[in-house]
Amino acid sequence: MDREDLGRSLDTGTVMYGVFGHPIGHSKSPLMLNEAFRATGLNAAYAAYSIVPGTLGEAVRGIRALGFRGINVTVPHKLEVMEYLDELDDTARRIGAVNTVVNDGGRLIGYNTDGIGYVRSLKEETGFAPSGKRIVLIGAGGAARGIGFALAQEGPSSLIIANRSADKAAQLANDLSSFAKSRGIPLADAAEELASADLIVNTTLVGMHPHVQEVPIDPSVLRSGQLVSDIVYTPRETLLLKEAKARGAAVHGGLGMFIYQGAYAFEYWTGKSAPVDAMRRIVEESL
Ligand code: ATR
Repeated sequence: MDREDLGRSLDTGTVMYGVFGHPIGHSKSPLMLNEAFRATGLNAAYAAYSIVPGTLGEAVRGIRALGFRGINVTVPHKLEVMEYLDELDDTARRIGAVNTVVNDGGRLIGYNTDGIGYVRSLKEETGFAPSGKRIVLIGAGGAARGIGFALAQEGPSSLIIANRSADKAAQLANDLSSFAKSRGIPLADAAEELASADLIVNTTLVGMHPHVQEVPIDPSVLRSGQLVSDIVYTPRETLLLKEAKARGAAVHGGLGMFIYQGAYAFEYWTGKSAPVDAMRRIVEESL
């Protein structure tokens, strides 16, 4: 649909959605979610809102006042937004971050679809079954928490958190330990664990454009039989994934996590299955 058609299709019945972040100028979410609404024939629209830090509470109250059905929340608001919601689902509470808000008749409920989006992408795009596998996560920040809790539900034999600062690795491993056999280690001492892992996931932004020559680990430990996964998707294939491929490992890029976190948000808001292929196509075309 071109812009003229979009303008004509908005009417008094249009259900509004959006993403709150700062900065928000490069977000692909409006493109992806508007395509999802178009593909499913829903009278809905999605826009990006640059919410300056300090004004998030007002913006969230606006969701109720304006009758928005749902909002995505991104950097830097994923933690603070929890203060202004009426309810958190269990996963979002455990992770300690919200990326999706559903307005249920004025009651605002927070969800986190990043981790489940990651696992759905991993399974559908690689066929990898995490159950019984040795998994190492690189990083212990917000992205690692979402992915860690989602992978912990899948029954891995071990879930090692390797992070530059060891205290954060230990903290996340401790939080995960009631769901999986988890341990935190310093990234600098992770060579042995990395070498014996079935799945290695880079949850840091090391290697993201413009720092495309950076890798979070020494790639010489990688080997065939492993799956190496990176949440970064600009570039589509990071140096880590290139190095992994060169050593015979299978690779999984970060675009699918972005697509499926949006697909779950769409499903929570609308109750319909997300048109994942159409969503992927339009985002790929724009990259
Ligand atoms: P996000 O929400 O994207 O995960 P974050 O919460 O700021 O962002 O976490 C960033 C993660 O990337 C952290 O695990 C950080 O390691 P520290 O806890 O030691 O800071 C990791 N990270 C960032 N830059 C890194 C680098 N150059 N090498 C290794 N790890 C790095």
